[in-house]
Amino acid sequence: MKELKYTTIDQALKLKEPNVNLRGWVYRERKSNKFIFIVLRDETDIIQCVISKSKNPEIFEKAEKLTIESSIKLSGVLKEDERAPTGYEISVTDLEVLQVSEPFPITEHQSPELLYDNRHLWLRSRKLSAVLKIRHTIVGAIHSFFRDRGYYEFDAPIFQPSMSEGGSTLFEVKYYEDKVYLSQSWQLYAEAGIFSLGKIYNMGPTFRAEKSKTSRHLSEFWMAEMEAAWMKLDEVTEVAKDEIRYIVNQVLKDNRKELEILKRDITLLEQYSKVEYPTIKYSEALDLLNNKYQMKVPWGKDLRTIEEAKIAEHFKVPVVVTHYPTEIMGFYKPPSEENPKEALCFDMLAPEGYCEIIGGSERSLLVENMMERLRSQGEDPENYSWYFDLRRYGSVPHSGYGVGVERVISWICGLDNIKDAIPFPRTMLRKAP
Ligand code: 4AD
Ligand code: MG
Repeated sequence: MKELKYTTIDQALKLKEPNVNLRGWVYRERKSNKFIFIVLRDETDIIQCVISKSKNPEIFEKAEKLTIESSIKLSGVLKEDERAPTGYEISVTDLEVLQVSEPFPITEHQSPELLYDNRHLWLRSRKLSAVLKIRHTIVGAIHSFFRDRGYYEFDAPIFQPSMSEGGSTLFEVKYYEDKVYLSQSWQLYAEAGIFSLGKIYNMGPTFRAEKSKTSRHLSEFWMAEMEAAWMKLDEVTEVAKDEIRYIVNQVLKDNRKELEILKRDITLLEQYSKVEYPTIKYSEALDLLNNKYQMKVPWGKDLRTIEEAKIAEHFKVPVVVTHYPTEIMGFYKPPSEENPKEALCFDMLAPEGYCEIIGGSERSLLVENMMERLRSQGEDPENYSWYFDLRRYGSVPHSGYGVGVERVISWICGLDNIKDAIPFPRTMLRKAP
């Protein structure tokens, strides 16, 4: 077969020119005495191709060897056929077999563990390719959201000398003769960056040695963070809401087809893309849980997943919860002046059981208070002296937050498990392939 001009399946279906040259992989095959039906898959779509023994005996013979995932190139005539999966069928006039695939280890109805063991092959599934395309849109949307609003992209080190989000989830790495930790957050470095650039953002790999085996935790995930000088809690929560609505809108614009493949309820996403998201205080959240839903959450306790889920289910859209108890919050979240027991911080909780997708806060300017809180966590404030310098040399109010990128992907795609939101997931129980 001489080198031809190839098109993708979606282009072929769009242009509807009768003669097409396609290349890809055998997604399904069915053989009878007279016909061989091949569903061809490429990165854009699938299409049924038919080979007739009486019309093309030589091609029929070649096609008889084809197995699932064999790589092929073919030429043929495109015509409408309402029985075919995408409404069109190709009558094959030429076929080149690049490789006859060995029996594919993934067949229908496989255990999740087998799919994770074969992740390098499962990436080709319609489900994962749809999720990865949506992931691509979401990552692109985060960059354009911040860039369009005048934020600079600012990078922080992945090797960090100390913790920011609690010592218990640190990954320790040998660093020459010393040790460092993998980044738990970009934030502390970003707080230095704002004195140079004002408003900044970043999206990067983030590491947490989570001991929990939930469907919401990864050991390596991507966090999209922002930090802005002069910004207070009421403003930063609005930026977060705008960002999430912007992301949902972008997915609705670019990924209708993928959302359909994933059988996602699009009317819900349309709702999330338009409406206002409420902001409530932690204490109001407790009132709701304890009075309306007969739960018994004492003031001062962090919200558990079931409680977060209940709050978001009540409002049916993402909800911002502010003013969590200072005592259970990170050392950098400042006590409010009116009531120091409450911190100037927030989480955003997504509905449909997805819960926390964002965590953020104003940043404390109280060096003594932060030192004390670090000490109470067994940290040496000396290790943070560079961070406290930021409060010594022209300190200004500032705020920021971090979006769990895979949490947002899971929610928007309606996934059962966060592991499917990233190509090669890393959890406590999985580090390969
Ligand atoms: O709430 P977190 O821990 O906040 C911070 O790290 C702040 N320093 C961010 C900031 O203010 N710049 O993490 C932020 C978000 C969470 O809301 C959650 O969506 C996600 O990161 N996240 C995880 N996602 C997947 N797997 C994990 N183990 C995660 N831990 C946090
Ligand atoms: Mg959090």
